[in-house]
Amino acid sequence: MTIRRVVFNQKGGVGKSTIAVNLAAVAAKRGRRVLLIDLDPQGNASHYLQGEDAAAGPTVADLFQQMLNISLFAKEPQDFVRDTRIEGLSLLASHPELSELMVKLEARYKMFKLKEALDALDGRFDEIWIDTPPALNFYTRSALIAADRCLIPFDCDAFSRHALYNLKTSADEIRADHNPALYIEGIVVNQFQPRASLPARMVEELKSEGLPVLASPLSASVKIRESHEAACPMVYFDPRHKLSREFEALYQELAGN
Ligand SMILES: Nc1ncnc2c1ncn2[C@@H]1O[C@H](COP(=O)(O)OP(=O)(O)OP(=O)(O)O)[C@@H](O)[C@H]1O
Ligand SMILES: [Mg+2]
Repeated sequence: MTIRRVVFNQKGGVGKSTIAVNLAAVAAKRGRRVLLIDLDPQGNASHYLQGEDAAAGPTVADLFQQMLNISLFAKEPQDFVRDTRIEGLSLLASHPELSELMVKLEARYKMFKLKEALDALDGRFDEIWIDTPPALNFYTRSALIAADRCLIPFDCDAFSRHALYNLKTSADEIRADHNPALYIEGIVVNQFQPRASLPARMVEELKSEGLPVLASPLSASVKIRESHEAACPMVYFDPRHKLSREFEALYQELAGN
């Protein structure tokens, strides 16, 4: 069975795209058949994997567009998927058009269509990773309905901490109303500074409040920017780097769940 994970946090810039791409890359490195779906109109994850080439070829916007048109000649979800330079890692790329499409999709109650598309892909991939925009909107709801696990990046910031509770409520509501399979697999502590006292205290507090904080934090490194520039996931760009090893450890922790 395909594992479907969504990486979600309505706060911007907490590391969703970086984490989704690198964990998907680790999975592919380990021989898993992996699909990354980029639901953010910003397209950062697509760009991270393909650079300028991300703009060419079919995208997830074409798939959503098709959901609005009833056609006898509909394509299969698989037809919108492309290969990447990384063996075993496929991409359903983003497109800026996703922004305009959202209103139409919402008006026509298409929120369950992504789940149907993933059902149609079942068996082709071992893992599907979904990167989402920083908002609780049509795309993030569609992803939370389609996925069975949710990972929440947390950047050790006081405002983000507050947002975590709203996030948990959003996930609980979707679970109750639409998707009993959904569970919060864990909170990923990103840009962790072990020597600073505030982040460490914050993480301890989250744990004591019963939030599922994962045991493998990710440290901050400027190297990640270089990997973005090079359009090459960190775990391939510099596999021996501390952060790459942390991505491996995080993946290992999740795989053991
Ligand atoms: N561990 C890290 N160390 C250093 N910089 C990081 C780390 N993780 C993410 N960043 C940087 O933080 C910025 C935001 O990361 P990213 O784009 O992954 O976040 P996001 O949550 O997907 O953002 P958005 O909400 O805009 O989609 C990027 O510039 C990225 O390079
Ligand atoms: Mg992002």
